[in-house]
Amino acid sequence: MSTPFLSEDQLAREVELIERVERSFDRADNARLKQIMQALVRHLHGFVREVRLTEQEWNTAMQFLTDCGRTTTDKRQEFILLSDVLGISMQVISVNNEAYRDATEATVFGPFFVQGAPLIGHGGDMAFGAPGEPCWVVGRVSDTDGTPVQGARIDVWEADEDGLYDVQYNDARTSGRAHLFTDHNGEYRFWALTPTPYPIPDDGPVGRMLSATGRSPLRASHLHFMVSASSYRTLVTHIFVRGDQIGWADSVFGVKETLIKDFTRHPAGTPTPDGRELGQQTWTDVRFDIVLAPASA
Ligand code: BEZ
Ligand code: FE
Repeated sequence: MSTPFLSEDQLAREVELIERVERSFDRADNARLKQIMQALVRHLHGFVREVRLTEQEWNTAMQFLTDCGRTTTDKRQEFILLSDVLGISMQVISVNNEAYRDATEATVFGPFFVQGAPLIGHGGDMAFGAPGEPCWVVGRVSDTDGTPVQGARIDVWEADEDGLYDVQYNDARTSGRAHLFTDHNGEYRFWALTPTPYPIPDDGPVGRMLSATGRSPLRASHLHFMVSASSYRTLVTHIFVRGDQIGWADSVFGVKETLIKDFTRHPAGTPTPDGRELGQQTWTDVRFDIVLAPASA
């Protein structure tokens, strides 16, 4: 930590306060809670001392957190959004999903998953009328030895070409989301939409912070997956579009090299893999093979 030159008295005063606050947690019965609170105190005081936080800046921070609280409802979670744009959500995912052999990497969950999305069969369409360019998605779910995982549940969800999830419309539509199960070979296939970039909700305090710091609210184009099967670690991830205009500048730091996939575009009139008639519409296809880590990993 780099602190400016401080007199010995001032330094002693600052350090003594940290130690006193840390000791105030000494008698906590819960050892893990004690460890977390004491480390939090050390890091927060370290931050205040490093930047020599002014009282006015502290007031601004308190107002910012108050605004985050006021913006949070049962449909909008501004604190999770704050964690996302600070890279904390991705750091927690890294800490808790240590790489296991060649298991597929996890990324951020995001606020737009909804329990109970409709079931589709093999080759079904998860768009349910959401506007966008059709995208044929295929892949295979296996374990780290290459054995197919039959009956794995795959939840998929994504924004439409206007950058909105169904839950962001003021009606009760269900679109751009579904679940399906892998077949006896661990394989799956379905129609989705070619992902496009969209902004995270930026009309609240987090959006104001991004704008004040010259940051974009845009997320790199992606399609969400959650893959679960008994005895395996549930995988929450996305696939990203290679060549996407946002790419590594993703506002929530969710992009990982292994999750960037080739979405191949086909001219209008090109026959589709399942014979679906798309008329004058272009379409894309992508392959995403998924490797699940064991639950014990
Ligand atoms: C999303 O991808 O849906 C998302 C992730 C983090 C924050 C906002 C949106
Ligand atoms: Fe998303």
